Amino acid sequence: MSGLHAAIIMDGNGRWAVARGRSRTAGHLAGADAVRRTVEAAPGLGIGILTLYAFSSDNWRRPPEEVGALMRLLRRYLMAETGRCVENGVRVQVIGRRDRLAGALVREIESAERATARGEKLWLRIAVDYSARDAIVRAARRLAAAPAGADAESDAGSREVFSRLVAECSEPHAQDLDLLIRTGGEKRLSDFLLWEAAYAELIFTDRMWPDFGAADLEDAVREFRHRERRFGMVAPANGGGGGGIAAAVGQIPRDIRSATARLKRAVSGSSVPSASNP
Ligand code: FPP
Repeated sequence: MSGLHAAIIMDGNGRWAVARGRSRTAGHLAGADAVRRTVEAAPGLGIGILTLYAFSSDNWRRPPEEVGALMRLLRRYLMAETGRCVENGVRVQVIGRRDRLAGALVREIESAERATARGEKLWLRIAVDYSARDAIVRAARRLAAAPAGADAESDAGSREVFSRLVAECSEPHAQDLDLLIRTGGEKRLSDFLLWEAAYAELIFTDRMWPDFGAADLEDAVREFRHRERRFGMVAPANGGGGGGIAAAVGQIPRDIRSATARLKRAVSGSSVPSASNP
């Protein structure tokens, strides 16, 4: 999937609703409309992967009525939107644990994933019962179970393999995050994509999620495009020459390719539970 990998912490539903004298559930309902608008706008803005934080593993601690309403909303969203996703080339996948979700929701998730599997315009990843720390712990267990010798390779090679393992513990083949947006005025990551966000550009907006729309996403992508991503390097003194930072970044995988290949071979035989069956 080409294009940017953008992710959104969709915060502010509750405050949006309370400010209008409505229930928090009404805020989540309005939030689902903002999801529709955002998914529609993303491909036209150069976004290839969109990861949305719909329900964190810590959200189980919310009042049972709110948890129940969110779960019903997710199921209803999948039931209502799968057809449109197929038409618009949107591939839907849900990342996070599934063993604590109701059977009816899991079946709806599987059916949406099957129906949209061929979508190539946008890869929509919805994080449900997701915890980045848990994904990292699962990847660490998996690395530990790798045959002896794998950890004796270079740090860079190990890091590359570990990235793959973390991705596999969420969903295979997701590239690192480019842009992370959080709505609702708070400035924290809340256990979302901690590994993948190592070099993500962070954008925090006061806009409450139910008010978020195509223009806000466009603003965020515009700001992202103006940021200089240095990945720990320095900006070229003359602003060019040899392709600058982008070219240098392109070199990194080549430098560690052989170590990575060996490590990949080393860990590929290991058997560790996946995200959906942790
Ligand atoms: C955080 O806002 C939001 C959530 C925990 C739920 C997000 C869910 C949706 C946007 C709707 C359903 C999602 C999909 C993909 C259909 P909050 O309620 O914590 O807001 P607050 O900080 O104002 O209380």
